Amino acid sequence: MSLLAPPRHTDPAVFGRVAVLMGGSSSEREVSLDSGAGVLAALRARGVDAQAVDGIPALAKALAGGDFDRVFNILHGQHGGGEDGVVQGLMDAFGVPYTGSGVLGSALAMDKIRTKQVWLALGLPTPGYVRLRKGDDVHAAARKLGLPVIVKPSQEGSSVGVSRVFDEADLDAAVELAARYPGELLMERMIEGDELTVGVIVDAAGPHALPSIRIVPKGAWYDYHAKYVAEDTQYLCPGLQGEDEARIGRLSVEAFVAAGCAGWGRVDLMRDRDSGDVFLLEVNTAPGMTTHSLVPKAAAQAGIGMEELCWRILETAL
Ligand SMILES: Nc1ncnc2c1ncn2[C@@H]1O[C@H](COP(=O)(O)OP(=O)(O)O)[C@@H](O)[C@H]1O
Ligand SMILES: [Mg+2]
Repeated sequence: MSLLAPPRHTDPAVFGRVAVLMGGSSSEREVSLDSGAGVLAALRARGVDAQAVDGIPALAKALAGGDFDRVFNILHGQHGGGEDGVVQGLMDAFGVPYTGSGVLGSALAMDKIRTKQVWLALGLPTPGYVRLRKGDDVHAAARKLGLPVIVKPSQEGSSVGVSRVFDEADLDAAVELAARYPGELLMERMIEGDELTVGVIVDAAGPHALPSIRIVPKGAWYDYHAKYVAEDTQYLCPGLQGEDEARIGRLSVEAFVAAGCAGWGRVDLMRDRDSGDVFLLEVNTAPGMTTHSLVPKAAAQAGIGMEELCWRILETAL
């Protein structure tokens, strides 16, 4: 049985004129352009009338001119990046439907602390944490959680500003690094074990988990280098087997729904090596769609090629 129900439409004309929103001004501009090129090619190959639009000001102009009926949003990141609810509000204001999460889900998922607060309130597992404010005693916080800990900015991506701290002597440097980025900081209990990620896609029946991917970086952890530079990071899909795989899929869908997300996205998790327990880290509401990206890999494992995947995501904007 295939993972998704049959597509609702086969005629590309139902989508009208589609803007593929990419690029922008965030630090993830280059990745977004790469994702956007892949999406654009896939939609055009299926006969969709799709055009590239670079960044939010260009989109605002095009929407004011009535140029598009729908937007495939593949901007990554925040602050002009388009993954944080700002451009979603603009598209809502113009009444133009778009792929992915709306204002609430986008804004919430961009804030790791508040996403965790929602998950914890619903009893979903996420590593214990402390929210760090200026002047807080970070050493007391680390002792409360117990070393090792992770220190990270609440609102960045791509592992930027994230440190693994095993020794209290390294704590201040980790906090200093994370504090260079805008927004709040958090300290999290470090989960030692496997790194997993689960794509989620919504069809007429509701949200479905794609097969999980277990990420095995060559170095110590999945840092910026392992994500974008290293060629030797291993991606195992499905990442787990049997009931474990089914469970991580259900948890990811629950986490996605709890965060108010819609359309599609990707949930990052860690699995404790000793207990096998799985913990939620974050949701990405406009994850990468390059040839190296994780959602296309997971979809391919489920028999969904890039063209089909982009079509399915675009259907969520009908
Ligand atoms: N609590 C944690 N335990 C272990 N590793 C973590 C933890 N939090 C983050 N990491 C590591 O840092 C990476 C980036 O963290 P994540 O929360 O996914 O933020 P982002 O991907 O937005 O930078 C993760 O993929 C993982 O390798
Ligand atoms: Mg992540």
